[in-house]
Amino acid sequence: MRPISRRNALLLGGLGAAGTAAGAAGLWWSLASPANTIGGGGPARPPALRSPAELRSAGGRLQLTLEAGRGQLELGGRQARPLCYNGSLPGPTIRLRGGDELAIRLVNRLDEPTNLHLHGLHVSPQANADNIFVTVKPGESFDYSYRLPADHPPGMYWYHPHHHGTVAGQIFAGLFGAIIVEDPEPIAVSAERVLLVSDTTLDGAGNIAGVSQMERLAGREGELLLLNGQSTPLLSARPGERERWRIVNTCVARYLRLRLDGQQLLLLGMDSGRFPAPQAAAELLLAPGNRADLLVTAAAGDSVLRILAYDRGGMPGMMGPGRASRAEGTVLASFRVAGEAADPPAAVAARPAPEDLRTAAVAARRQLTLATGAGAGGMGGGMGAMMRFTINGQEYSESRTDSTAAAGTVEEWTLVNTSPMDHPFHLHVWPMQLIEDNGRPVDSVVMRDVVNVPANGRVTVRIAFRDFSGRSVYHCHILDHEDLGMMGVIEVV
Ligand code: C2O
Ligand code: CU
Ligand code: CU
Repeated sequence: MRPISRRNALLLGGLGAAGTAAGAAGLWWSLASPANTIGGGGPARPPALRSPAELRSAGGRLQLTLEAGRGQLELGGRQARPLCYNGSLPGPTIRLRGGDELAIRLVNRLDEPTNLHLHGLHVSPQANADNIFVTVKPGESFDYSYRLPADHPPGMYWYHPHHHGTVAGQIFAGLFGAIIVEDPEPIAVSAERVLLVSDTTLDGAGNIAGVSQMERLAGREGELLLLNGQSTPLLSARPGERERWRIVNTCVARYLRLRLDGQQLLLLGMDSGRFPAPQAAAELLLAPGNRADLLVTAAAGDSVLRILAYDRGGMPGMMGPGRASRAEGTVLASFRVAGEAADPPAAVAARPAPEDLRTAAVAARRQLTLATGAGAGGMGGGMGAMMRFTINGQEYSESRTDSTAAAGTVEEWTLVNTSPMDHPFHLHVWPMQLIEDNGRPVDSVVMRDVVNVPANGRVTVRIAFRDFSGRSVYHCHILDHEDLGMMGVIEVV
């Protein structure tokens, strides 16, 4: 058995990770810090955090229109022309409850095809529900319709385009928004914050910059880090207040290793997985696509939400090791806690113990090998032909079904990464329970819909294929890799 690496400890949610480095000079954010670019400390006068508009279901139903089109707004202090849902970045937040019906008209005002995916939601992948095989052409619209199971896990989810070949580019350009499935019994907090982290790069004219083939192979990371579309916004609270922070990593390829020193963090859960009781966390690691549901109990003073370096590996000779360290110490937001102390918050009620698939009967075992390697074009075929991104030796084909599972059964999948870079593995519709992480058994129930498979490592998960049948996909959530072919089709029958 290999000892648990720091990387994997972090991926389990930072539980029990090294204590706080309180007292370090970097703890307190100075208002005099320099620019808001990668590695910078933030602008001199931070703007207050904005929240995306919210659309809430009523009487078991929500109907809305999402119009994907070119927007005009300020990003990082410059006029920019990103892609937006309904003219904003992020798009509106959708608030639902278990059992709800959701109807979304997607209108495509882009100059290329798009479609819509509800990331992490346990809903049907068929027909006009969460069907990523749908194509909505420019100028056309499509009416999606979904129904959540009455017992849908509460938590943070998100939506984004999923048209194969253009996914990374459209999300990088600004097409994403949050979905919240409300708790049946609300948790008492003074504020609930929806925090979507994204990165992008603007060209000289304020358009979203194109990327090189090299950047696609590595997975593009933007120069501009945004929280709800803002550079280093300010969050304020009073001492003793307890806030709920729902954080989504919408970045195409960037891993977010987050710290908020000087504050007490309790993790309610990640993705759709909720712990029976909140867990103390010193830092968090969110792979692309992951979410964290966090309680922050405010302590007086000025703190910063920082992104620390994370080494996700790389292709030898294709990118410098400096890449991973670029974001070291980048400030995502500042948190100012001042004023009169608030009354202590009510205790968080314990949740029933989640189902544990470790004791389930396993109907089938499969191995999925994520690999990168030389393509048929060989060295002479240019960079694109040179590198292939495959699962079990094959690139994605919409018409081929790669895995067939029986509805109602539990399967065990071993995800093997033979490449020198991490791949965050994502399965639609059916959540995964982590069983073994690089040789180390996972000793509690940890549910994820994005599981990091470390470079040259392996992870074992179990999946209950219940409630829904139909065709859907699994893929690397470094979305450039997905667009390059690291995706497979599963059919549940
Ligand atoms: Cu977040 Cu298949 O996607
Ligand atoms: Cu998804
Ligand atoms: Cu990948």
